[in-house]
Amino acid sequence: MRVLVCVILLLATACGAVHQKSNKSAAQKTTTPARPLNPNQQENDRFEQQILKEIAGREREPAEKVFENIRLDALKNIPAKRFLRIMNAGYSRALGVECTHCHDDGDFASDDKRPKRAAREMAAMHRKINAQLAEMEHLEPQAEQRFINCTTCHRGSIDPMN
Ligand code: HEC
Ligand code: HEC
Repeated sequence: MRVLVCVILLLATACGAVHQKSNKSAAQKTTTPARPLNPNQQENDRFEQQILKEIAGREREPAEKVFENIRLDALKNIPAKRFLRIMNAGYSRALGVECTHCHDDGDFASDDKRPKRAAREMAAMHRKINAQLAEMEHLEPQAEQRFINCTTCHRGSIDPMN
């Protein structure tokens, strides 16, 4: 389709511009997927603020030092405050759930809840997909511009198929 548009517009030398524009919107689509609002946002913000109070003074230390049970290599060195942002604006919002979907509200370090364990497996899967995307040879965006995250699939719901 784009080739056809380019051919039509070639004489007007607007093809380059059209091409650039479509590149840009493709990049925007991969870097900022639609961020649906989470119906549990207020409650989640309350949890985030509560934990921020508990770790006051250590917000910039690596998550694995501040928290008890950080097993994902990609999260170990993230500053604790940013880690909590990922939990709230990343994980929770991507699935449209409350923190307690994955966590026991009295013990965030516990792995008792199945969805928390599933989330670790999902994090590993999303890294594998990104590694594979980076290796592909026939895509337009630069390697560092093509990646997926939790929202790419979940878009605000637990089951991406719904
Ligand atoms: C989709 C599941 C999921 C949701 C929703 C979620 N978390 Fe997590 N959370 C995890 C996983 C998985 C880990 C462990 C990460 C690891 O092992 O590296 C974790 C770890 C944590 C930890 C570290 C606990 C410790 O001491 O080890 C805190 C604190 C935390 N989450 C807070 C939150 C808050 C606050 C929210 C809501 C705003 C939230 N989480 C929502 C999956 C989730
Ligand atoms: C390639 C698509 C895809 C990506 C990317 C993805 N997921 Fe999933 N996820 C799924 C599918 C499919 C299911 C199974 C649907 C179901 O359980 O109903 C699922 C299920 C889950 C579940 C189980 C929910 C439950 O309550 O049983 C959790 C938790 C989860 N994903 C978290 C995440 C997190 C966190 C990320 C980002 C690190 C992520 N997912 C990225 C496709 C994806």
